[in-house]
Amino acid sequence: MKAKDLKKKYLEFFKKKGHSIIDSAPLIPEHDPTVLFTTAGMHPLVPFLMGQSHTLGTKLANVQKCMRTGDIEEVGDTTHNTFFEMLGNWSFGDYFKEEAIEFSFEFLTKVLKLPISHLAVTCFKGDKDAPKDEVSANKWRELGVAAERIAFLGKKDNWWGPAGETGPCGPDTEMFYWTGKGKPPQKFDSGDSKWVEIWNDVFMEYDKTKGGKFVPLKQKNVDTGLGVERVTAVLQGLDDIYLTELFWPIIKKVEELTGKKYNKEKKVMRIIADHIRAAVFILGDERGVVPSNLDQGYILRRFIRRVVRHFRSLGADVNKNKFTVILAELIIKIYEGEYRLLKEKKKFILSELEKEEGKFVLTLEKGLRKFNQMCSDKKIDSKEAFLLFQSYGFPIEMTQELAAEKKVKVDVKGFEKEYQKHQELSRVGAEKRFKGGLGDASVETTKLHTATHLLGEALRRVLKEDIRQRGSNITAERLRYDFNFDRKLTAEELEKVEKEVNKVIEKGIEVKREEMLLKEALESGARGEFGAKYPKKVSVYSIGNYSKEICMGPHVANTSELGHFKIKKEQSSSAGVRRIKAILE
Ligand code: ALA
Repeated sequence: MKAKDLKKKYLEFFKKKGHSIIDSAPLIPEHDPTVLFTTAGMHPLVPFLMGQSHTLGTKLANVQKCMRTGDIEEVGDTTHNTFFEMLGNWSFGDYFKEEAIEFSFEFLTKVLKLPISHLAVTCFKGDKDAPKDEVSANKWRELGVAAERIAFLGKKDNWWGPAGETGPCGPDTEMFYWTGKGKPPQKFDSGDSKWVEIWNDVFMEYDKTKGGKFVPLKQKNVDTGLGVERVTAVLQGLDDIYLTELFWPIIKKVEELTGKKYNKEKKVMRIIADHIRAAVFILGDERGVVPSNLDQGYILRRFIRRVVRHFRSLGADVNKNKFTVILAELIIKIYEGEYRLLKEKKKFILSELEKEEGKFVLTLEKGLRKFNQMCSDKKIDSKEAFLLFQSYGFPIEMTQELAAEKKVKVDVKGFEKEYQKHQELSRVGAEKRFKGGLGDASVETTKLHTATHLLGEALRRVLKEDIRQRGSNITAERLRYDFNFDRKLTAEELEKVEKEVNKVIEKGIEVKREEMLLKEALESGARGEFGAKYPKKVSVYSIGNYSKEICMGPHVANTSELGHFKIKKEQSSSAGVRRIKAILE
């Protein structure tokens, strides 16, 4: 079975089981500044796991674009990727353990027709925070999974989430498939890499608090994740995801361009194939970015430069071809039927790759020569690492990788210090944000989200009625709001707007959420975002009689939670569009 059919069958199956199918959220999260990328299907759904109701009901499923840069070291083996597609189904306080396991089992054994003889599962063994998961284990036994194929493991293996430091999480049960040759062993050993994890059913029934406590959630949820690449390989009887149709055309092309064979250069060719695909999906995302030294742009830059370096390490003349462009065209061909945006943004994707590759190729040879000279004393000090970064465009991770090959030490800490001296926002910060997940910043962004509604309304009252939102971006520190207006605001106007917002905050007005049909919402006077596409049924947030907007949330319960609103900057964004940056203190 091809990956495309797997995805189709999955969505059809869960639709039949009463799930609404939702689109993949962008790879780059919209209202969550604490993570660089969406790392799981549950990520964009956190407010609904915490109890907010979703307009499409309590059962959802989708194919989600995900990125786990934390797995970058793993890439090169037979099963790991940075970018991957995750199939998921969710229950927000609807069905729980038994039904979720029945769905998984039915899909694996009846739809995909995987033999039960090749399946094994793990369940949570229990600890001080939560009891042993006998309910799940009993269900598996009842479905015919042998006792020796059920392993009980601790938090490290059988607990998922929260995505950040706080939030929804819980015990999980993972499904494994035997990919070894011959008959699978009777007894399941989760440490044997021939048993490949294919699906994870998480029972999100706890909220991990700031203090590290696990508090039972009112709503018992299900969050599952099944890796498309791995299951595709399993279905094709392959023990290497790079042999599937998702990667094989790329690998063939790399063989052709370098004259080397996959069998001899597996690791490097896998890294190339994984990274170029990730780069294409970052550039081609709804919220795509370009290569830079910051945040997602930096990760993108690392991917592209690593691909170029590895082409060189395979003996290719990097001055001769734009390798990333050649491979990106193949990736777009593989995915454009399912991701229309890749097709629409093709020119942009290819031209950004060409630029970035070109820039790096200019300094790569000289940089490598410099690097080799620096290695003569068996160490790269902070100044040297920074010179490689600044003058030759070597990401520090590349310097580390090159140094490791030669058993040379790099002063990474010193480099970070050197870097911070030169940059406003450090790359370390970006990495931490990725690792930190949702973190505590979600409280701050929720507040700023409500403040954004107040600001829009205040602008209408102070300036003119037909002001509409043209863009919004929220980080844990500030909001950014773009709106149609054709001149600079005066100091008096800005002061008036600020006062207006603070007046509403001080009044302590309740924020209310209602669900209604889009038609009803618009008729009731709720405002929508300019040019936005809304589903049939929407959420409407009202702040007393002050503002009423169609919005997914989340929002605070009362404006008094916001503190003091302050405008930090007003500037032009583009022709006829102004931009305000504001904070809450
Ligand atoms: N969120 C769970 C995972 O990523 C399903 O494994």
